[in-house]
Amino acid sequence: MSSHRQDLVRRISAPQIAARKGAGPPIVCLTAYTAPMAEILDEACDVLLVGDSLGMVVHGLANTVGVTMEMMILHAQAVMRGSRRAMVVVDMPFGSYEGAVDVAHANAARLLKETGAGAVKLESGPEAAPTIAYLTRRGIPVMGHVGLRPQAVLMDGAFKAKGARQTECELILAEAASAARAGAFAVVIEGVAEPLARRITQQVAVPTIGIGASAGCDGQILVTEDMLGLFDWTPKFVRRYADLRGEIAAAVRAYAEDVREGRFPAREETYFAKMKV
Ligand code: KIV
Repeated sequence: MSSHRQDLVRRISAPQIAARKGAGPPIVCLTAYTAPMAEILDEACDVLLVGDSLGMVVHGLANTVGVTMEMMILHAQAVMRGSRRAMVVVDMPFGSYEGAVDVAHANAARLLKETGAGAVKLESGPEAAPTIAYLTRRGIPVMGHVGLRPQAVLMDGAFKAKGARQTECELILAEAASAARAGAFAVVIEGVAEPLARRITQQVAVPTIGIGASAGCDGQILVTEDMLGLFDWTPKFVRRYADLRGEIAAAVRAYAEDVREGRFPAREETYFAKMKV
């Protein structure tokens, strides 16, 4: 075997994730947008999602509608550089896949070719099955996303949990089932109550990955910055595993005080010339 083949990084693949349906421990997923964060998350996670939530988390946008292909590609390239073993999934941004299937294909292929990621994710409303079938038949692994679909925020008026009415529950179940039938290897379920998440998980043939969708899913995903406590406010479904905001603020206050009081830099943080200058 030639040496460059030995150097190939073996990442978790879409079929390996699909095979976890009903087998083994729940699938561990987190969002990642940068190389250093991907490096930290890689070992513990099965899937790193370069979510279009990066528009809000990193770029300060009010929602994900303004996220572009270029933003997704730049962040996905960074996440690929930072990680070695987790599967990297890239969100298709608003406007890049909802129209003609050949346009969706060109954009999905571009995301994979320019980043090296293992799959794309798209928000799979009632119209998405033909697109998922078109992409998967052409070699593009697709993760679906049902329930609360953040890219539909302009129609919904706000980010609201879904499934309050029976008709809506049936629609979400049908969307998840049709995404799986069309070839999706996994489906994210966002913002639905436990009974619906369990029903979808029982009836759909591929793994479900929940966010605000209870323990009734085959795996879980959170926005990493939410679970690390980078923001003042987080939704009810987020467990905060750290207080990054507090720790960063305290560290920055200490640094500012040290600079103002002349305590930083100290002698051990200073280069001294060997000869006179
Ligand atoms: O964009 C994103 O980060 C997502 C996850 C929250 C599932 O879609």
